[in-house]
Amino acid sequence: MEKKDIDWSNLGFGYIQTDKRFVSNFKDGAWDEGTLTSDANVVISECACVLQYAQTCFEGLKAYTTEDGKIVCFRPDLNASRMKDSCERLEMPVFPEDRFIQAVNDVVKANAAYVPPYGSGATLYIRPYMFGSNAVIGVKPADEYQFRIFATPVGPYFKGGAKPITIRVCDFDRAAPHGTGHIKAGLNYAMSLYAIMDAHRQGFDENMYLDAGTRTKVEETGGANFIFVTKDGKIVTPKSDSILPSITRRSLMYVAEHILGMEVEQREVYFDEVKDMAECGLCGTAAVISPVGKINDHGKEICLPSGMEEMGPVTKKLYDTLTGIQMGRIEAPEGWIHVIR
Ligand code: PLP
Ligand code: COI
Repeated sequence: MEKKDIDWSNLGFGYIQTDKRFVSNFKDGAWDEGTLTSDANVVISECACVLQYAQTCFEGLKAYTTEDGKIVCFRPDLNASRMKDSCERLEMPVFPEDRFIQAVNDVVKANAAYVPPYGSGATLYIRPYMFGSNAVIGVKPADEYQFRIFATPVGPYFKGGAKPITIRVCDFDRAAPHGTGHIKAGLNYAMSLYAIMDAHRQGFDENMYLDAGTRTKVEETGGANFIFVTKDGKIVTPKSDSILPSITRRSLMYVAEHILGMEVEQREVYFDEVKDMAECGLCGTAAVISPVGKINDHGKEICLPSGMEEMGPVTKKLYDTLTGIQMGRIEAPEGWIHVIR
């Protein structure tokens, strides 16, 4: 299979249309068998529930070319299961988890020419999503849905890749207590659009959201969870019912504890503690681990000791181990790697 003529190493995190995507429709209480299509456009009613009431959720995962030339995905079963949780919370029908994994496999295989080569620094980002497609004018869930998966080759989420970024403590909330912060609902991202543009206008790369209830605890950013390294070398990550259970974060915590032999803690993290941390990183599928160099709290700067030049040493070790597993350089824990076939 010949790869597409793409300048892989200079890709940003953007959309490039690829050849095939998966589509399945839910009607009369059942999913159809689904198909791969070349048609990248969606045609729906002007009154579709997704357009009027944002009834939509999505997932994000990546395909990698490994050192020995295989194409693999990282823990797609966890994306399938998180999408189930999102659908249930949004009164949407679940797309069966085994079929989700098969469809991811088929989309990657059909777009193999777009999977960036090993060592290029790029990956194939896979975006499964679902939306209520029939006309709904009273506030209620749709009866008909479409589930789709497309794929697009991407580079680093933050310009500069592994260079530390500057974030600010945000005065807007991304999620309410007992709301939808723990699922991957499109509405959470709509909530964050003004806040992220405002952050950019003020010269910051991202927002640090605090808990909406008390504004004392660290939650997450608009698209990634936090991990902190304490000065005595412990990995700490916030526990909250209103943040997305990041698959990257769960994997990193496992890697830290079971492969690197570090102490790990998932607990409430007070913002007051952050000034005493040694390192801070944002973790997610898109972000991988992006080091944070500076946190601006309403004009007061917290400068992480790891600085603005490069990743801190512990973050780097975590990054190298996780990406080593994803690219096949380090043996993966059982069940983490799905080989595309
Ligand atoms: N938090 C939010 C709000 C996200 O959108 C994402 C991205 O999916 C994450 C965290 C990271 O999750 P994951 O590691 O599963 O990609
Ligand atoms: C991801 O990491 O997959 C995300 O969905 C984050 C972002 C692009 C919103």
